[in-house]
Amino acid sequence: MRKKHDENVALNNPTTGIGLRFVSVRQKGVVIALPSGKGGVGKTTVALNLASALAIKGHRVIVLDMNLMLPNVHLFLTHSPEKTLTHYLAGDAECEDAIGYVDLGKNKFDVIPAESIVDYMKRINIANLSRLIHEIKPEYDIIILDVAPGLTKYVIYPLKLSDQIFIVSSDTKPAYVDSMKVYRFVSGINARFRGCIVNMVSGSELRYFRHGDVFSVIPYDKKLEKTFRDGKTLFHSRLPAFISQTKKIFLKMADAISKTPRF
Ligand SMILES: Nc1ncnc2c1ncn2[C@@H]1O[C@H](COP(=O)(O)OP(=O)(O)O)[C@@H](O)[C@H]1O
Ligand SMILES: [Mg+2]
Repeated sequence: MRKKHDENVALNNPTTGIGLRFVSVRQKGVVIALPSGKGGVGKTTVALNLASALAIKGHRVIVLDMNLMLPNVHLFLTHSPEKTLTHYLAGDAECEDAIGYVDLGKNKFDVIPAESIVDYMKRINIANLSRLIHEIKPEYDIIILDVAPGLTKYVIYPLKLSDQIFIVSSDTKPAYVDSMKVYRFVSGINARFRGCIVNMVSGSELRYFRHGDVFSVIPYDKKLEKTFRDGKTLFHSRLPAFISQTKKIFLKMADAISKTPRF
């Protein structure tokens, strides 16, 4: 991959695991955050398809919709809870009242959706997220935080509570430049940066990202777009035996996440 301009900075090699502590994900939930510089690069698509792939592999998974201003994970729910993350963060709900799920047939994963309630925004205390994660950690293997784009306090706080971070981006110059800004922030906190997930890639060559920076490359896939529009993931397919290239990529990501070190 070519180095394009000065914004290109060296990132961690996501494969580096020597000397690191290996911990079974069954013992304690691993918190994974998927930030991005730009919106619309596929964070929610990746979060839900990755959650599905992990669930199909037998892991206990929950997705939290941390995009509190413009949430949309609720559109994918098979079962909607009475309350939401928005209520929980405002001190108006117990954790168990805010958990819904997505049914994948033989498997499922849980979701804590959010709700954009104007009156509530002033009452939200993002610091309550720490208690929520503490409560759900023993119940799940993987906790996925689908955060808002950029670096507001509603993103920074969840990132600081995360064990592993994957920056989601498309392979365009503006998205790349903003990803590097997010990377600079992430490299200064405790969480382990595992690489970028470069999404909606057409063609075989990446234009801006270098392979050492990349955890996974997801192609532009019309089927992925259509399933998302229909409120589903690729793993809702009635033909589970058919494994598309994109599905394989999500299954490989699921393996890489569940079989590698926590820190
Ligand atoms: N790999 C892909 N191929 C085609 N369309 C995609 C892909 N990933 C995401 N999309 C589409 O891009 C749009 C934005 O995705 P979304 O997951 O909502 O982004 P974000 O959560 O970052 O705002 C959606 O319409 C989604 O279906
Ligand atoms: Mg989103």
